[in-house]
Amino acid sequence: MTINKLLTLSLALGLALAEPAAAQSAEATPIPQLVTRGGRHALLVDGAPFLILGAQVNNSSNYPEPLSTAWPLLDRIHANTVEVPIAWQQVEPEEGRFDLSFLQNLLDQARAHDKRVVLLWFGTWKNTAPGYMPAWAKLDNKRFPRMKDRAGKDHYVHTPLARTTLEADKRAFVKVMEYLRDHDPQNTVIMVQPENEVGSYRLPRDYSAAANRLFAQPIPPALAKRIGKAGTWTQAFGAQADRAFNTWHVAAYVNEIAAAGKAVKPLPMYVNAALAGPSNVPDPAGVASGGPQQDVLDIWKAAAPAIDFGAPDIYDRASGNVVQYLDKYARPDNALMVPEIGNAREFARFFYGAIGRGAIGFAPFGIDGTGYYNYPLGAKQLDEATLDAFALPYAALSSIMRDWARIAAERPTWGTFKPDDSAPQSATMGAWTVTATWGEWQFGQKDWTWLKSEPPSWATEPVGGVAVAQLSDDEFLVVGDHVRVSFAAAPGTAPNGMVVSVEEGRFDRGRWVASRVWNGDQTDYGINLLDRPQVLKVTMGRYR
Ligand code: DGJ
Repeated sequence: MTINKLLTLSLALGLALAEPAAAQSAEATPIPQLVTRGGRHALLVDGAPFLILGAQVNNSSNYPEPLSTAWPLLDRIHANTVEVPIAWQQVEPEEGRFDLSFLQNLLDQARAHDKRVVLLWFGTWKNTAPGYMPAWAKLDNKRFPRMKDRAGKDHYVHTPLARTTLEADKRAFVKVMEYLRDHDPQNTVIMVQPENEVGSYRLPRDYSAAANRLFAQPIPPALAKRIGKAGTWTQAFGAQADRAFNTWHVAAYVNEIAAAGKAVKPLPMYVNAALAGPSNVPDPAGVASGGPQQDVLDIWKAAAPAIDFGAPDIYDRASGNVVQYLDKYARPDNALMVPEIGNAREFARFFYGAIGRGAIGFAPFGIDGTGYYNYPLGAKQLDEATLDAFALPYAALSSIMRDWARIAAERPTWGTFKPDDSAPQSATMGAWTVTATWGEWQFGQKDWTWLKSEPPSWATEPVGGVAVAQLSDDEFLVVGDHVRVSFAAAPGTAPNGMVVSVEEGRFDRGRWVASRVWNGDQTDYGINLLDRPQVLKVTMGRYR
């Protein structure tokens, strides 16, 4: 079956593959929704699959003027979505007095610049701490208590066991969701992140007397069922028991807030994780204990059914670690999204690894013009080379954004990026092997000793990646930059496999339209994608 036949079949099956409803007019559109079918995920926006080509503004850009500095940069990198915080302290500066004026300004600015929004609720926990709680709440430790350490002293983190804090946070969050229900019929806001990087550093759980009593009890039945273990926290989780306990209670707290918000307007909601390294058994006192790190995702699933997925915030430059994070968060029961990644140039290539694993979104952190840079986590500054690194893959994908999202929800995909050791990467897709190599000129082969040359400038740079979608048995959609891609018959398959055609083109209402055929020098030495957005369809075949 060819890709255009697949499209016809998909439409016949009613798979929401038609062009989306007109976006961002004041007309009501279907509420965004996350759908999972056969272990693949799609974020539906305006009724059709959508890929978040995102960016997050800096923390204190949740005011009209600093927010206004973001749009030129978002356009520069071809982003379609901006992630913006809204803080409990600005929504409820005095108890019971609510101010949603920034939210309206955000909606106005985003619509004027034709961007969608992922709204970040900075409430009880922001990077675990209460910084964004209103002063009236964070100064009242009797009503809104912090966790107790083993000596009975206050820890800096608010306990997830205080109903008072939960109710107060929930009330303000619900006001935000009510405002979206009443003022955002066009769904400019497509998704919400309740809280930010929850958990507790240096203290795995609350050790107050009430918490200790709870800790001595058996684990909740829903959790016992999910993990197939019973007994106390210590019996079920051993050395990670304190952390598992805190994870359950933080997740249940966030779940209640998310569920109350969804009852008002059922937008997809996710939580982001401060990662503790790729190890599956982090030090409970070193990790943000309670957060949705990869090894405790099942606790989150059991405690927080209103949370659609947990997501990794990636500030790790080691390519092997990034592979592990992407692999661990891309699960049949957990849609992959990278809601934060460092904005330094070398992080841009990881985009291909994310979408190749079916990611519904990706967002470098700290994209605005306020002059703040979170180096050494991210870039020293957003210079042209850095912006280009994100702009190139986003430009290619934005030209096929709806098509990629639709195809990735149904068909096998693969994505890779140049690893730190520059080793070739390959995958078998059906009867074909796809191989990505790095740092080559566009002409000739590296092992041609008779044609001497110096390596190209990008051979030693942390650039290069490719994403491939298998459209049908023998057809592949390919996007990438600073990469050579080769297709060949997979070992053990029928003989005489060859590339039949390489077309550059685009989609028109879901149908592939070729603008030219690559051949000769453009394909004799592999398919070389370098410094401009290009979308290719590769067709393989066998001669008889
Ligand atoms: C991760 C947090 O989620 C962000 O809000 C920000 O603080 C970055 N770390 C660091 O810049």
